[in-house]
Amino acid sequence: MIDIHSHILPYMDDGAKDWAMAIAMAKQAQADGIRYIVATPHHRNGRYINESFKVLEMVDLMNSKLKELDLNITIFPGQEIRVHDDLLRHFEDGEIQSLHDSRCMLLELPSSGIPSTMEDIIHELSLMNIQVIIAHPERNAEIARDPNRLERLIELGALAQLTAQSVTGETGGKLQRLSLDLCKKNLIHFIATDAHDLERRPFQLSRSYQVIEKKLGPEMVNYLKNNAKKLVDNLEITTNEIVKGGFPRNNFAKALSGMFRTIK
Ligand SMILES: [Fe+2]
Repeated sequence: MIDIHSHILPYMDDGAKDWAMAIAMAKQAQADGIRYIVATPHHRNGRYINESFKVLEMVDLMNSKLKELDLNITIFPGQEIRVHDDLLRHFEDGEIQSLHDSRCMLLELPSSGIPSTMEDIIHELSLMNIQVIIAHPERNAEIARDPNRLERLIELGALAQLTAQSVTGETGGKLQRLSLDLCKKNLIHFIATDAHDLERRPFQLSRSYQVIEKKLGPEMVNYLKNNAKKLVDNLEITTNEIVKGGFPRNNFAKALSGMFRTIK
């Protein structure tokens, strides 16, 4: 499997705290059947700055350590970039790292809402041949309240990635239902671990695909896995037509009330 969102690189953010932990996380990923990991340290989230050159250096270092240890895992460079006012300028300055040098960029929304600039950012980046992937939209309060907000962003050309733990229900049944509903509407294109450590937010991807298979069928699993493969091969991501209307708004309102309890 391929995991497109993780905090495995040490000393960068609130993910792996040192090399020992990073290596232990890689072993955990391997045990779960993950072969390729895109390292996406936080960038410009108000707390961490991890420019492209720094990510590339650490990825090289980590890959050489994994090779020495004979682990069958390869790390690719990336970033999880918080949507911020100077994003386009920082992109032009070369500090932004796409996912494995593909045309896809992983963007994180603030958990409370969607910035008013988001639609413009998606549009401007698309003019530069960059496609936005929205990280864990299910954890955004505005999208939970009104999923049509995500639908609008997807219609503008963005893609979206669910967190594995949201799908499995480990962060609550309400968040799980919201995640599956978004998936059913074809508003989701990837699932990833967003792994930060070994226990609280681990490399556990296989279980989320099992849940998807059980609840939504094997075609959806193939679709999501193929998209992760396409991403690292820098091929066009497949999108299915959005299923319009019929969002169970009450469920989303309930999910919203549960979310603040479950997300830290
Ligand atoms: Fe993350």
